[in-house]
Amino acid sequence: MTTAEDRNRYFDALSADDTLIWMGQNTNHIPAHPEVTEAMIAAIRSGAFNAYAPPLGFESLRAAIVADLGVAGRALVTEGGVNALATLCRARCRPGTTLVTSDPTWKWPGLFARQQGAEVVELPIFGPETGYKLTPDMLRRAVDGRCALIYLVDPNNPLGTTYTAEEIGDFLQIARESGALLVHDCTYRDFAEGHVPAPRLDPENAVCSVSFSKWLGLAGMRVGALVGAPALIEEVSGYASSILGAGVVAQRGAEAGLRVKAEWMETVLRINRANQEAVKAAAEAAGLSVLVWPSQANFLCLGTTGLAPEALVEAFRRRGIMIRQGTYHTARFGHSFVKVSTTVPEAWAVRFCAELPGAIAAARSLTDIPALF
Ligand SMILES: Cc1ncc(COP(=O)(O)O)c(C=O)c1O
Repeated sequence: MTTAEDRNRYFDALSADDTLIWMGQNTNHIPAHPEVTEAMIAAIRSGAFNAYAPPLGFESLRAAIVADLGVAGRALVTEGGVNALATLCRARCRPGTTLVTSDPTWKWPGLFARQQGAEVVELPIFGPETGYKLTPDMLRRAVDGRCALIYLVDPNNPLGTTYTAEEIGDFLQIARESGALLVHDCTYRDFAEGHVPAPRLDPENAVCSVSFSKWLGLAGMRVGALVGAPALIEEVSGYASSILGAGVVAQRGAEAGLRVKAEWMETVLRINRANQEAVKAAAEAAGLSVLVWPSQANFLCLGTTGLAPEALVEAFRRRGIMIRQGTYHTARFGHSFVKVSTTVPEAWAVRFCAELPGAIAAARSLTDIPALF
C-alpha cells in the first residue's frame, strides 16, 4: 500500500532534478513568451500579490477567457482546471447520482464524484473499433435520469482523440434528454483541429473546464477556469474552496498569454508536431506502436505490447526522463501503453528518441520497479 507521503517523495525527487526531461504530464516546457514572463514579473515587482484576487477572478481575465472560447457565458477562474472540476463535482454529485465518462479518462473528477457519494460509470473506448472514442450509442445506453454529469475529456488524455461538432451535438442531445450536464474538459483543445466547445452549441446544458497548464505552460502557477451559463457559474461558485481567489501572478500571466495566443500557438504547434513526428519514427523503429495518429493533443500514446509499461517508465526515469505509465489513467487498459508528452524543447525529444532503444532493452530485464504515480 503506498501512501500520500510516498507519492509526494516520488514527485519531490523528480522536481529536485533540475536536468529532468519532463515528458510525462503533458506540461509545456517550451521557453515562455516574453510578454507572459514580463506580466508575471510585473505582478511580483508591484507587490500585486500582497492582496487577494477577486473570488471569481479578475474581470479582465474572465472576459478574455470567455472571448477566447467563443461562447456566451461567464468564467469562474480557479487554481487550475482540476479545481474547476472539483468544484463542479461538489456542486452537482450526490448519493444516487452518476458521473458518466470514458475509460480511459482523466481520473480525478471520478474521485471527486465518488467522494460526494455518486457512482462513476466508465465506458470503455480503448480500441480501434470506435477509433478510441466514445460513441453516442454507448453514451445513450449509460445515461439515465440519475446522471448528474457526463464528463467528456476532449481531446482525450491519454489517447489524443477529439470529437467533431456533430458528435458533441449528439452528446448534448443525450444530456438534455436525461437532465444531465455535459462537462466538456477542454484542457487540450488548442492542440486539436476544428474543436468546438460544447457551450457554443448549447449554452444551458454544457459547461467547459479550461487550463493554462498545457498550451501556455503555466502548470506550476495553477490557473484554469470553469465556463458556463451565468446561473450555473453563480450556483457552482457557492461550492468553491477558493473563496479568496486564484493566484494573482498566475492570473496576470494567463491574461498576457491570451493576448499573445495566436503568435505563441503557432510556435507551440510547430514544435509539438515536429516532436511528435520524431517520437513516432523512433517508437516504430524500436517496435512500439502509435495508438492514435495524428494526435490532437500534446502527447502520444505508445503501445508497448510484450513490454511492461512500468518497466519502461522506470528505465527512462533512470535516464533522467519522465514518461507516464498507462495505469495512471486506466486500470483496465493501462498495462499496454505509455504516454509521452511533446510540448518540450526539440533537444528533449531528440534525447528521448536516442535513449529509446537502450531504455527498451533495459526495461526487459528490470525487476526492481518502485511504485510509480
Ligand atoms: C484532462 C485534464 N483535465 C484537467 C487537467 C488539470 O489541469 P490543470 O493543471 O489546469 O489543473 C489535466 C491535467 O493533466 C488534464 O489532463
